[in-house]
Parts: sequence; structure tokens; C-alpha cells
Amino acid sequence: MDFEDKVVIVTGGSSGIGAACALSFAKLSAKLTIVGRNVEKLKQVHDLCEEASGKKPLIIVADISKEEDNIRIIQETIDFYGKIDVLVNNAGMLLMAGLMDNISNYDRISATNVRGPYFLTQLAVPYLIETKGNIVNVSSVVSSVPIPNMMPYCMSKAALDMLTKCAAMELASKGVRVNSVNPGPVATNLFKTAGATEDQNKIMFDVMAAATPLKKMAMSEDIANIVVFLASDRASCITGSNHIVDCGLHLGEGNIKDFLLLN
Ligand SMILES: NC(=O)c1ccc[n+]([C@@H]2O[C@H](COP(=O)([O-])OP(=O)(O)OC[C@H]3O[C@@H](n4cnc5c(N)ncnc54)[C@H](OP(=O)(O)O)[C@@H]3O)[C@@H](O)[C@H]2O)c1
Repeated sequence: MDFEDKVVIVTGGSSGIGAACALSFAKLSAKLTIVGRNVEKLKQVHDLCEEASGKKPLIIVADISKEEDNIRIIQETIDFYGKIDVLVNNAGMLLMAGLMDNISNYDRISATNVRGPYFLTQLAVPYLIETKGNIVNVSSVVSSVPIPNMMPYCMSKAALDMLTKCAAMELASKGVRVNSVNPGPVATNLFKTAGATEDQNKIMFDVMAAATPLKKMAMSEDIANIVVFLASDRASCITGSNHIVDCGLHLGEGNIKDFLLLN
């Protein structure tokens, strides 16, 4: 696999799965745009990528829930590199909220997890058609596993899966592939950003790992491996597919609802 001369945008490249994706693409010689809001973390990932590839990634500080920021992500990438080959819609957020919680939870999650990737995809498509490029959306196994106190999040990932499928149908004739990776629990900052304390986070990680059939929890690099594969020419016959990477959790040996100790 080789991404020499390929321009890859990774949203949420400042942390967790996105940072691991950026580093994996860098090791395969990609020209990178990494997007996030935390400039210090973006700089750290920038330096790791430069060390790996000798190429300086383009850092774009942007909030994907804002239309003007999405326009800037595409424009600055085109100004800098002149083309786009791969868009990884990875940035996302989690809130612990259920049906009877404030409707603003739904609005916040939708803006970041659905509307942001939708609009960024729209903006990137004309350039992806030119390069016959592809899109990888980072969804979740909970797109098909209902968890009551994560309802807006589950709904957002179900919507993202359908975005993947509809966009794949619409763009196939133009030579553009669209796929998703659907992780189970991954050891990142996601739950802490959603409000979990350090102790709660550690307990959840231990419980989640013990509950998967493979008795472990995925690391960000495990997710990056399949993102990079789907973005590569090796996946040239794969489009419109959702790829679960969850150490077997969806098989149902454990009960995912019992793992989520927040609320
Ligand atoms: N960890 C899991 O268990 C798990 C499981 C299934 C799916 N996922 C999905 O994996 C993706 C990455 O999450 P992660 O686990 O790696 O968590 P993370 O370490 O918290 O990373 C989240 C990333 O998203 C970025 N982000 C969030 N909101 C943003 C916004 N409005 N604009 C721009 N960037 C934004 C963050 O950047 P800044 O902080 O710099 O803005 C950060 O880089 C998410 O879509 C998540 O839903 C995670």
C-alpha cells in the first residue's frame, strides 16, 4: 500500500483514532491535511507525521459543525495541494443523553456527527470525482445497537451509515468509493470528553474489554488499519460497506448497554 502523491484529509486528526489514521497515512507517504480545534494537539500529531514521512502535514484549525469552517478546510487544502484523493470523516463527539433529556443534545450531536460530514462530503465531491478518490466515514457499532442513554449518538451514527450508502450509490458511476468503519469501544478520549472522570473511564475500559468475545479493547491503530485499507487501491471493489471492528462485541455475548456507566 502506498499513498505517495495522494492528498488525504483527516478530520479529528488531533486525537485518538484520527491521530492514528494521520500517522498511518504519513507512514505510507501521503500528503496530509489534519483538522481539529485543539491547535496544540494538532501540532503534536503534525510533528509525529513529519518524523514518519519527512512531509509536513497541513494543519487546519476548524470546527466541522460550522459551514464556513468546512468551506475553509476544502479551500485551504486545494490552495495548498491542488487536489484531494481521500476524505476521512472521523471527527465526532459523544454525549450521554436519552430521549427525555434536553433536545439541544440532539442538535449538538447532529451538527458535528452528521451535518458536518455531510457538508464536508458535498464540498469535497467535485475534487474526489477528478481524482477518482474515496471517502471513509468513522461511524460506530452502535449505529445498529440501540443504547437508551446514548440515543442521539446512536441515531447520528445510523444516519452516517446511510450517508455512506446513499453517497456510494450516487458516486459509484463517477468512480468515487464511499465506505465506513464502525468501531466498538476504542481506548481514546471520547468518553472523557463526554464527561467521564478518569476513574469512570478506567472502569469502563476494563469492563468493556472483558465483555468482548476477544476479551480486549481495540486501540486507535486497529481502527486506522482498516481506514487506510479502505482508502487504498486494494479496496477498489469495496463501496457502500460498513466495516465493524469491535473485537466481536456485536455478536452479543455481552450486553453493550451494561458497560456504559455514565448517568
Ligand atoms: N472511542 C470509541 O470508543 C469510538 C467507538 C466508535 C466510534 N468512535 C468514533 O471515532 C471518531 C473519533 O473519536 P475518538 O474515539 O478518536 O475520540 P477523541 O480522541 O475524543 O477524538 C475526537 C476527535 O474529533 C475531533 N472533533 C470533535 N468535534 C469536533 C468538531 N466540532 N470540529 C472538529 N473536530 C472535532 C476532536 O478534535 P478537537 O478536540 O481538536 O476539536 C478529536 O480530534 C468519532 O467519530 C467517534 O464517534 C469512537
